[in-house]
Amino acid sequence: MMIFIYLYYSSLDKTEHRPLEKSEKGAAPSLIAIFASGRGSNAEKIITFFKDDPSVKIGLILSNRKEAKVLDLAQAHQIPTYIAAREDFYHSDKITTTLAKHKIDLIVLAGFLWLIPAYLVSAYPNKIINIHPALLPKYGGKGMYGMNVHKAVHKAGENETGITIHYVNERYDDGAVIFQAACELEKSDSPEQIAKKVLALEHQYLPQVLKELL
Ligand code: GAR
Repeated sequence: MMIFIYLYYSSLDKTEHRPLEKSEKGAAPSLIAIFASGRGSNAEKIITFFKDDPSVKIGLILSNRKEAKVLDLAQAHQIPTYIAAREDFYHSDKITTTLAKHKIDLIVLAGFLWLIPAYLVSAYPNKIINIHPALLPKYGGKGMYGMNVHKAVHKAGENETGITIHYVNERYDDGAVIFQAACELEKSDSPEQIAKKVLALEHQYLPQVLKELL
């Protein structure tokens, strides 16, 4: 598969890009919270990638679905979990309190389907990262997640698609782009085959990009 990689830094950003500050906890590791709604294959790649890295720790997995597979993964790796109720997520300080309790430095949305509220964006400026399964700004926005994206790409007859890793703001898929990688599509590719190609790119690049940001 031909892969084209585009790296975007400050010149293209709508918000300022800067490396995350070293935590003020001395030699303590940077702590990542993963927010995920589903199976968690990206979460798994992140966990595996940082397993033996003393400078990074997965400190929390948050899900909005108590039946999400990602929670089994958290349990298998003894990572604390939090199941967010909608009311708490949008109208309480429970999430910021939980993130503070776990000393979270960076939030990664890995297949998390709820819009991030403004209070959380403000609490973690340029420290919330999303992975989107298309080349934004194409195929982003409300309702554009998972197979919906791949079906739309298929329907439009695109000859390439890819992934976007970007900062999160209070709008869907709108924050400054950090990284994109593309893959070629064959005319005969089904939405499922497109999904497979895109997921392979996500698994290949997301942990590395996080490492660079940290
Ligand atoms: C990933 O493909 C991710 O890009 C997508 O959900 C999938 C989660 O897979 N996210 C979105 O569509 C957000 N708009 P995973 O649970 O196996 O990591």
